[in-house]
Amino acid sequence: MAQVCLRDCKAWQDAGMTFSTTSNEACKLFDATFFQYVTWTNDATIGGIEGSLSRIKAADPNFVMGHVLSNGLELVGTGRSPVLDKELQDDLKTMSDLAKTQSLTEREQSYVAALETFAKGNLVKATALWEEILQNHPLDLLALKFAHDAYFYLGQQTQMRDSVARVLPFWTPKNPLTSYVRGMYSFGLLETNFYDQAFKVASEALAVERKDAWSVHTIAHVHEMRADIEKGLVFLQETEKNWKDGDMLACHNYWHWALYFIEKGEYEAALTLFDNHISPSCKTSGSMLDIVDNSSLLYRLQMEGVEVGDRWNKLVQTTKKHTNDHLLIFNDLHFLMSSLGSKDVGMTNQLLETLKELSKSPGENYQHSHISNLGLPLCQALVEFDAGNYDKVIELTYPIRYQILDIGGSNAQRDLFSQVLIHAAINSGSKSHQNLARCLLLERDALRPNSPLTERLIRKTTAVHNMA
Ligand SMILES: [Fe+2]
Repeated sequence: MAQVCLRDCKAWQDAGMTFSTTSNEACKLFDATFFQYVTWTNDATIGGIEGSLSRIKAADPNFVMGHVLSNGLELVGTGRSPVLDKELQDDLKTMSDLAKTQSLTEREQSYVAALETFAKGNLVKATALWEEILQNHPLDLLALKFAHDAYFYLGQQTQMRDSVARVLPFWTPKNPLTSYVRGMYSFGLLETNFYDQAFKVASEALAVERKDAWSVHTIAHVHEMRADIEKGLVFLQETEKNWKDGDMLACHNYWHWALYFIEKGEYEAALTLFDNHISPSCKTSGSMLDIVDNSSLLYRLQMEGVEVGDRWNKLVQTTKKHTNDHLLIFNDLHFLMSSLGSKDVGMTNQLLETLKELSKSPGENYQHSHISNLGLPLCQALVEFDAGNYDKVIELTYPIRYQILDIGGSNAQRDLFSQVLIHAAINSGSKSHQNLARCLLLERDALRPNSPLTERLIRKTTAVHNMA
């Protein structure tokens, strides 16, 4: 198992990454904290990520990189808005103020600038700053991971892959986190459709560290994208003991497991995973990834005609407080699924109205600049789908379907929107839309053969076509 590396001030300096603190304790805790971030774990023995961050601040309240790490994790987590959350605003201000009063290294200054930029919603510029750091410090894993996560939010799959490829040759087996860097690379390969390579690199990472839940996740995606359902089920079942206790990614890996069941049409099995793992995890963590997984799974089951009971009503209690956040269009769409599912008209209207308002003056905020062309049409499409206005759904989503990548997330996650369009085309009464459904399904089948879900939809299209 990967061991946390606890570097003191001198060790960081020797690695070419000098910190502007004299506190060895703060430096060691910095290592311990970002180790947990990179490995998707909370180490209870050091208080988890939250406890470790508090201990960094206690060791040296003026340690700018401690503030960078703390604020960075909040921002990248996208669970708190730097516009609406006063406490987060204050924390960011403290970081910036401290940075002005200290003689920081160029690398530290870039970190501060990147977070100030990220807080304004300019994720593209933030990634450029982290990339600058990586050009000079290829072993700076925090910059690599921040950039990796930001590329994911931007839908920049190629950049996500190449960002890791550029530094990977500098990572040798003597570094305890090298296998995790390979795991990150495997995900970039996967999202750019290099499935064989992604599988190979993730398997190599797992051979070093079987508890690496991110590499497990890559392989789960490979099986999903190939509709290799039985292999996926066996893989997750066999490895479950290695990743089920990782509180940050276990829910998402269970979500992938449930997707296999939906593919097979085994809806009760998917609901059981939802009730036993996916929903409880969300209730405990309230994390964005868990929220997205919950909404996405219920929505997919509903599209398959499954009655999900009062599960939306429970979920909306967690999502409602994020109605006005508008940090990511991708998140907004999943909040909206929950308000529509729970028939919370007030929340639906508020989400749409506040989103519309932000579209008027996006400034340098990347997400807000995509509200008009992507956010609002997709949100409206979900509203129309819920109302059974299928022609309207097609009108809204068909013209932008190749731009949906820009809302971020993985190919597997965004597949939900492809399914929405296909269901709308099938359910529309018009003959031309029946033909569109057939075309979309043929396209889907060509890319991802042997999908039971696709085959079911093809049969449904044929049945509707014969009835017409
Ligand atoms: Fe995933």
